[in-house]
Amino acid sequence: MPSSTTFIEDLLAQMTLEEKIGQLNQMNGGPDLDPDLLRMGQVGSVILDAGPSDGPGSSEARRAEWANHLQRLALQARVPIPLLLARDVIHGFRTVFPIPLAQAAAFDPELSRAAAEMAAREATAAGIKWTFAPMLDIARDPRWGRIAEGNGEDPVLGARLAAALVHGFQGPDMSGPERLVACAKHFAGYGAAEGGRDYENAEISEPTLRDVYLPPFESAVRAGVGTVMCAFVDLNGIPATANRHLLTDILRGEWHFEGFVVSDWTSIPELVYHGVAEDEAHAAYLALHAGVDMDMAGMAYLNTLARSVREGRVPMEEVDAAVRRVLEVKRRAGLFERPFADPSRAARDVLTPEARQLARRFACQSMVLLKNEGNLLPLQGFRRILVAGPFLHARDELFGTWALDGRAEDVLPLDEALRQVAPEGVELWFADWADLALRRANEADAVVLLMGEHPTRSGENSNVSDLGLPPGQPEFIAAVAALGRPTVLVVFAGRPLAIAREVAQVQAVLYAWHPGIEGGAALGEILFGQASPGGRLPVTFPRATGQVPIYYNHKNSGRPLGPDRGFQSRYVDLPSSPLFPFGYGLTYTAFEYANLRLSGEVMRGRLEISADITNVGDRFGREVVQLYIRDRVGSLTRPVRELKDFQAVELRPGETRRVTFILREEQLAFTRADGTRGVEPGTFYVWVASDSQRGLRGEFRI
Ligand code: BGC
Repeated sequence: MPSSTTFIEDLLAQMTLEEKIGQLNQMNGGPDLDPDLLRMGQVGSVILDAGPSDGPGSSEARRAEWANHLQRLALQARVPIPLLLARDVIHGFRTVFPIPLAQAAAFDPELSRAAAEMAAREATAAGIKWTFAPMLDIARDPRWGRIAEGNGEDPVLGARLAAALVHGFQGPDMSGPERLVACAKHFAGYGAAEGGRDYENAEISEPTLRDVYLPPFESAVRAGVGTVMCAFVDLNGIPATANRHLLTDILRGEWHFEGFVVSDWTSIPELVYHGVAEDEAHAAYLALHAGVDMDMAGMAYLNTLARSVREGRVPMEEVDAAVRRVLEVKRRAGLFERPFADPSRAARDVLTPEARQLARRFACQSMVLLKNEGNLLPLQGFRRILVAGPFLHARDELFGTWALDGRAEDVLPLDEALRQVAPEGVELWFADWADLALRRANEADAVVLLMGEHPTRSGENSNVSDLGLPPGQPEFIAAVAALGRPTVLVVFAGRPLAIAREVAQVQAVLYAWHPGIEGGAALGEILFGQASPGGRLPVTFPRATGQVPIYYNHKNSGRPLGPDRGFQSRYVDLPSSPLFPFGYGLTYTAFEYANLRLSGEVMRGRLEISADITNVGDRFGREVVQLYIRDRVGSLTRPVRELKDFQAVELRPGETRRVTFILREEQLAFTRADGTRGVEPGTFYVWVASDSQRGLRGEFRI
């Protein structure tokens, strides 16, 4: 790889102003993309579309040829500079893994890393070199459809997964032919959109921004993420796309980010709608000055920057700085040496048995068992099992949002997958219509209901005002439950749904999210006990939509939530507690926590905290052991609990393991009202716990 500075300075010295601005312009690569723009060096990056729909070879191979064709056009420019070819590879490519929120439920950074690595292998085989992932927006409002794309509500879990995903996509060196350049998005505060409506404004105090919303991004930067995408959101009155505080002061000044920032889709011209820019040229000026290096699909840079520079309204140095950053990422991505994809890789590297196996394991690990009365699951000793509900024949409905490159024909329909996994002697009856299901349920020994929301109900701009199951489903569940057969409710969804009534009506509830390409087999293995559900909730489950926002790391208030004691924080029509807390999840065995030990009463730099975890059930199982703290008194009010660490342990029946956490003083730091960050002396509670509401509690001082 050519060495950095001189190589880039040499290039820059050869480029005209127009060619420089071309590097800052990203366009959609559909068939209508004007080849002359590429030949003239007017495009720095192309978002690859699906490529030619017919022709010889697999679609991935054809897309790699298409990518190479675009690349050749770009390299015909006077100063040949390779394109960075991008696509949204969000949770898998052709092999679709569970949606990101489900992946977060696995609390397993290594699995997340492995899935991202697999996605990178597949996507690069189709000519893609840059993905717009990971999505790192903390979300406390499940009405917001994009909660499906992120890692839930917790900054520490989010930060751990951010690093894992960046490592998975980019590997140790993003120039590797099987590696993608990652993009941490959407910077920042996007998940706090008012009312859960996508693209709405957010008001977030600086301490909350820094302590809740930013940690996953900082973690991605530390992990070496190549690019960052700014958010659509208006944050505290300054749209993220024009927010110099975020994109320059924090991202570059404090975190020393060395990659480049891309806008979100047309978010630069949208500054006019936000009402901070007079016109397109003003919007381009504001964005560039804030620190947005590349204009995604907005054309504002291409249309206006050259003139603004010539008229002295935009400093040349700002253009040069942005171009340097873009060229540097291209250099680090190895594009100057290896601009072309190898179309022959597609046949080897796409949809391999290994990828499917990983997808199945991940799906099992991400499904969350919410209720299991009388150990109804795994289903044992039932001969005739009725399976019904709108997901009965699901194929690509299992993918969830943002699965642009998954194909329905790669997925075994859910009923077929269950049939293949069901043990011998079990008769599965499938009922397509509600009437038929009700009739047959009476004759069945047990009933499995496959309910939930279609993938188009979550994801970008797919927000809901009502977190209940879609119309008709609650009534159907109630009618089946009334028949009194042992009933399992399986919920497919891109968000936490408010299912308090349904949970009360049935004996077992399994939250399957949108589990991806192997979702059917994974579900079958869990229902029949070949695998155990491994997930824990990465987000709080509300009882009703009206409780939102509800999240575990809230402040205590002067009149804390609790059992009804008069004028306390509460609803008159609903308990204040969540339906299920963050971190919660059952499995097919049970664990006991005992013997909490702290290495001292006073923390001096660090503290060791440990507890014995015992598998008290009769099956092998995996427990996610969680470490929480509470800072009792602060100059700013502190959350009632904060996750600081977690570890998974796998235990045989009867086995006990001592799980030890090292808590370092800097993990207790928080941002104060004056913007300084630090640890304040005093008393802290600490819990080793199986979820955010339980656990063994200890105490220490600083
Ligand atoms: C989304 C981004 C996405 C981009 C490109 C935008 O609408 O907000 O998350 O990466 O489109 O597809």
